[in-house]
Amino acid sequence: MKQTNSPKTYRVKSFGCQMNVYDGERMAEMLAERGIAPAPEGEEADLVVLNTCHIREKAAEKVYSDIGRLTKAGRAAGKEPLIAVAGCVAQAEGEEIMARAPAVSMVVGPQAYHRLPEMLDRAVKGERATDTDMPAIAKFAALPERRRVTPNAFLTVQEGCDKFCTYCVVPYTRGAEISRPYQDLVTEARKLVDAGAKEITLLGQNVSAWSGEDERGHTVGLAGLIRDLAKIDGLARIRYTTSHPADMDDALIAAHGEVEKLMPFLHLPVQAGSDRVLKAMNRSHTAESYLKLLDRFRAARPDIALSGDFIVGFPGETEAEFEETLKLVDAVGYAQAFSFKYSPRPGTPAATMDGQIAPEIMDDRLQRLQAALNRDQFAFNRVTEGRTCQVLVERKGKLPGQWLGKSPWLQSVWFEGNCAIGDLVEVRLGEAGPNSMAGELLERETA
Ligand code: SAH
Ligand code: SF4
Ligand code: F3S
Repeated sequence: MKQTNSPKTYRVKSFGCQMNVYDGERMAEMLAERGIAPAPEGEEADLVVLNTCHIREKAAEKVYSDIGRLTKAGRAAGKEPLIAVAGCVAQAEGEEIMARAPAVSMVVGPQAYHRLPEMLDRAVKGERATDTDMPAIAKFAALPERRRVTPNAFLTVQEGCDKFCTYCVVPYTRGAEISRPYQDLVTEARKLVDAGAKEITLLGQNVSAWSGEDERGHTVGLAGLIRDLAKIDGLARIRYTTSHPADMDDALIAAHGEVEKLMPFLHLPVQAGSDRVLKAMNRSHTAESYLKLLDRFRAARPDIALSGDFIVGFPGETEAEFEETLKLVDAVGYAQAFSFKYSPRPGTPAATMDGQIAPEIMDDRLQRLQAALNRDQFAFNRVTEGRTCQVLVERKGKLPGQWLGKSPWLQSVWFEGNCAIGDLVEVRLGEAGPNSMAGELLERETA
């Protein structure tokens, strides 16, 4: 029987990008504020929030199979959970989900999840509700304060996207670009630091497009925000993601050379190496303008680690055009990267373009691209062998006394010694692996 008592435990399952992780944390905070506790590991929760991602195919199918699994497990345990579907699939396919999955009582889009508690009150009474409004900034003001966070915390500063790359659903699921106000961000960053954050990653679908007005009424961009956040005592590191090559300004490049707390890392998706493909994707850069931009970051911060996103098999991509992607990869030498097979998304222009690429060709291209990217990641790791750097301890390792932390270049570093989660420790980087580094603890800096 579907439970009608108020839920006592919750679980939020977030898929997709870091912005979803941030949203998932905020939803958890709202539920905690209502006295609902996180479900203990291995136990069924009374309320499950599926915080979904729509970026590539099978996203919706996955949601339906998760719902099926949850209902079945709930039945076996004698009580079906209340299920909320949140995130980008909720935004894109909310109505269908409500129609197809009677087990779902709440559908809430990424810009409306501050209304989850009200929806929950109704769900407990057996009412089903969908909310996919986009009231833009209102959400953040309605959320509770930040209380307990991980040493590496996320802070959403910008949402939405106006770029309309022809393959991408984000402009439809997250809406138009908006920047959160400067003062709200400074306040939230301080709260995060008070709650234990040592590192803050500023998030946005297009974070470098952030702009706001500082305390003196001056218009500032992301670089200005970073400079001001760097003044917060107790905040040791700042990162930001994801950027679009079109919005990288001189001030941001300069900040990489001047703001010590800004980590030497840049995630700058390029997608492809062929200018014809880039144009068809509606990316506003060329391979050459992208490479020139990276050169400027390298000039400002020579040790900067570079990361990117790639799509193989965009409609019409020829073998020769794909090889231009490999050429670009060789020219950059990425420290890490994400690569995907093109996935036609309903409602996007590319989905109906001629020249859709056969799956075997995509598989082959992805494999070749990933081989090149893995090679470069390993090479980058090897170059850092022997460096001494600060590592932010994020969690315990598998072995007793072992820890996992992140280097300034966002490498995972494994080491042993006496320290605690949230410490910034001095580590000498030892042997490089393909995906991580071994480290030696030099001294513990009490934070
Ligand atoms: N706003 C960011 C990231 C958006 S989504 C940006 O513009 O860079 C993250 C990545 O998913 C994209 O960079 C792209 O590489 C990939 N992606 C987006 N839509 C896709 C699709 N339809 N098929 C395959 N990969 C896609
Ligand atoms: Fe999608 Fe392009 Fe916007 Fe990134 S910039 S979110 S890939 S439309
Ligand atoms: Fe996915 Fe939405 Fe993020 S589609 S990648 S969760 S913005």
